[in-house]
This record gives sequence, C-alpha cells and structure tokens, in this order.
Amino acid sequence: MATTAPTSAPSAPTAPASNASHDKAAAFAKGLEGVVGGMTAVCSIEQDKLIYRGYEIHDLAEHATFEEVAFLLLEGHKPDSRELERFKAEIVAERALHPAVTSFIESSAGWLASGRAVPMDVLRTSVSILGHTDEDCQDNSGAANLRKAKRLLAKIPTIVGHMQNVIDGRALIGRELGGDPSLSHAANLLYMMTGRRPSRDEARVMDVSLILYAEHEFNASTFTTRVVAGTLSDMHSAVAGGIGALKGPLHGGANEMAMEMLKEIYASVGEKGIGTPAVDAWMQTAFDTKRKLMGFGHRVYKNGDHRAGILMGLGKKMAATLPGTFGGLAAPKWFELGEQVQKIMMAKKNIHPNVDFPCGMTYFTMKIPVPQYTPIFVASRITGWTAHIMEQHADNRLIRPLSIYTGPAEKKWNS
Ligand code: CMC
Repeated sequence: MATTAPTSAPSAPTAPASNASHDKAAAFAKGLEGVVGGMTAVCSIEQDKLIYRGYEIHDLAEHATFEEVAFLLLEGHKPDSRELERFKAEIVAERALHPAVTSFIESSAGWLASGRAVPMDVLRTSVSILGHTDEDCQDNSGAANLRKAKRLLAKIPTIVGHMQNVIDGRALIGRELGGDPSLSHAANLLYMMTGRRPSRDEARVMDVSLILYAEHEFNASTFTTRVVAGTLSDMHSAVAGGIGALKGPLHGGANEMAMEMLKEIYASVGEKGIGTPAVDAWMQTAFDTKRKLMGFGHRVYKNGDHRAGILMGLGKKMAATLPGTFGGLAAPKWFELGEQVQKIMMAKKNIHPNVDFPCGMTYFTMKIPVPQYTPIFVASRITGWTAHIMEQHADNRLIRPLSIYTGPAEKKWNS
C-alpha cells in the first residue's frame, strides 16, 4: 500500500544515535532500582524511619487510630477532635454500596467458587463500577478528588465484607448501612466479613495493621496510581490500576503467599518438627531450588522493615491469648514456626522479613480467610493511593520514561 509522505520531516536527533544509546544505557536501572521518580509530601522511607506527613510509624501505631491516620494522609494534617468526628461521620455515611455494585458482587459467586476470579479481581471490578455510580467520577478537581477518596475509603471494606458473605453463602451483612455505624473502620471490616463483632484486642490489632499498611511512598502500586493519574485520568481508574499492581505476590499478594508458605512448612514437618532441624532442611531445599520465600526482602529497606517488628509483636501477643487451633495448630505455634523461619532466613541469607510476613500469621489466627488478606491491604492502602493521586493531579507532569531497544536491527518490509 502506498504511504503518504509526512507533512514535515521528523526533527533531527540532537546527538548521534550511538551516543544517545550510550546515555540511555548509563541511565538505565532494571526495575527502576534507585531511580527517583518524583517528589512527595505524603511519606518518607528512610533506612531507620518510616514517616507519614511528619509522624513516625512507631508513634502512629502506638498512639493513633486508623481513622486519624486516614485523615492525616487525606487532609494533610493531624485532626483535632472536631475534625476527626466530622471525618468519621462522613466515612460512616458513605459505607453502603450502590445496588449495581452489590449485584455485581453477588453475581461473582460462581467465578470466585471456580477460582477463575480471586477476591482481588472482584474488588478491582467493583471499584470500576463504583466509578460509574460516583457523580464526581470525571471531575479531577481537588475538592472532588477528596470526596471520592473518602467514598472509596468508606466503601472498600463493604465490598470485602459482602464478597466474603457471598463466598460463605450467607446473606449480606449490613447491606443497608454498610455495617454497624457504631464500629470503627477496622472493627466494622471484621464484622462485615463474619457477622461477629470483634473483641477489643482483635479490633486494635486490625486497626494497627491498617495503620502499618496505609502508605509507603513510591511502591509499585502507588507508582501505578500516579502513572495513571499523570495522564489526567480519573481516581477510580488509577485505583483500579493500583489494585491490579498490589495483587502480585512480589507486592501485596505476599501476605497471602507468606501464610501459604508457612502452611506448607507445617504440612511438611508436622507439629513435632517445629523448633527442630526439619524446618532448616525445608528451607535449605527452598534455597537450593532458588525459591523466593514470601514475606522476606525489600527493594528499599536493607536493614529490615520497621512495620514487620510492630505487627509481629502485636500478633504474637494476641496469639498467646487465643484458645483452640487454627488449621490444626495452636496460635502461638504458628508464631513459633514463623520466628524460626525468620531466624534461619537471617542466618543463612541475611534477609529480613517485611510487613507481609507477620501479617500472614496475624490474620490467620484471627480466622480471616487467606484470599482476603490482600483486599484488606487495599482497605488501608486506599488512603495512601488517593493521597498520591491528589498530589499528582495538583502538580501534574506526564510520567513517561524511556527504554532501550533490544529488538532486531532495521529491516526493509519489501526486501
Ligand atoms: N527469598 C529468597 N531470596 C530473596 C528474597 C526472598 N524473599 N528476596 C530477595 N532475595 C534474594 C534474591 O534471590 C537475590 O539474590 P541473588 O543476588 O543471589 O540473585 C537478592 O536477594 C536480591 O533480590 P532481588 O529480587 O533482586 O531484590 P529486589 O529488590 O528486586 O526484590 C522483592 C525485592 C520484595 C521483590 C524481593 O525481596 C521478593 O521477591 N520478596 C518476596 C516477595 C515479598 O515478600 N514481597 C513483599 C514486599 S514488601 C511489602 C509489600 O509490598 O507488600
């Protein structure tokens, strides 16, 4: 087919191609490792500190509630008591779902049962539908974005809860109001999933886990949301992309995989093998086969993930009080096994656990179904994502890196 000549010649390269390739190669970092991708006032990760808008994570985990942290991230400062009450009321008022979202969740029962869809997929599609039901969907102004961020924060636990009800074959809990308005975000999330109001300890452990998961600078899913927002696309599109990125086992999906790995070790060594060289042998096989151990390692932290120690301590303390068995093992035994795995990993590989490792054991001994661990991560990280989307929209520049071409040399089509 004849081609039409371009109306203007392409502009000449500013440097010979070979130099340009050389510059690109010099700037290249696989996986963008060590590359600074932007500026943010939301969060700072340092080797010895994790800071949300000026507040350090140990301080927040000990003294703040998740709602306070959510306000801090979304509205930009620590709330006073009136602001906090107003914020909590706004969130509670937005918990219920539009019938279009509810009926989609109900219709997904078969896909969830067959395994064709996992809860993260249903959550991703539900967020897309939420966009259609949100009157502000196409409005990227700061005020509209903040309204949408609060609605997403309020509604995601309801989606997770309704989905679990569908999986368990029970009537949807809290269909009219999105749960019990007297319960906190964390307690209501647990209530919506089970129909049981959690104990104070359970609610606090969930609350702290949500604080720890809320924000983490330019991680893969947050960066995804910023790339989408950077095209001036809308918040729901960006969040749907973020959910897709978080699902992967190298990122948020690791909390589910970490627990699956511990279950696998237990199935292999048995209760009597815990605390014995049988666990070392299982891990040696994993090392020999170059298997990645889920819940360990981090791209940025080289001396350990601050969040992991906090959650390990809390989860272990709660486990000591829990009667009965969980998947055949008493709650403290899971933590004993987890600590042994951590010790071996440090001794043999010098690799620290990340937050997803204690999360697996903690949620498991709270009887939360494993496939909901990453959706619960979303119920928290939605605050960080939407704070970053607002920041990106407020001072936007398209995010568009370069690549190094590795394909064949130029050829003629008609040769
Ligand atoms: N198990 C075994 N070896 C590991 C692990 C691990 N979990 N993590 C790193 N390594 C080894 C890796 O094999 C490599 O060794 P070598 O140099 O001999 O090839 C070396 O450590 C460097 O690893 P890397 O994969 O190049 O490091 P990275 O910065 O690209 O990866 C990571 C970071 C998080 C993807 C990786 O540590 C990993 O895959 N961890 C398991 C998945 C996980 O727990 N993800 C959660 C991340 S943090 C919280 C969150 O986002 O949810």
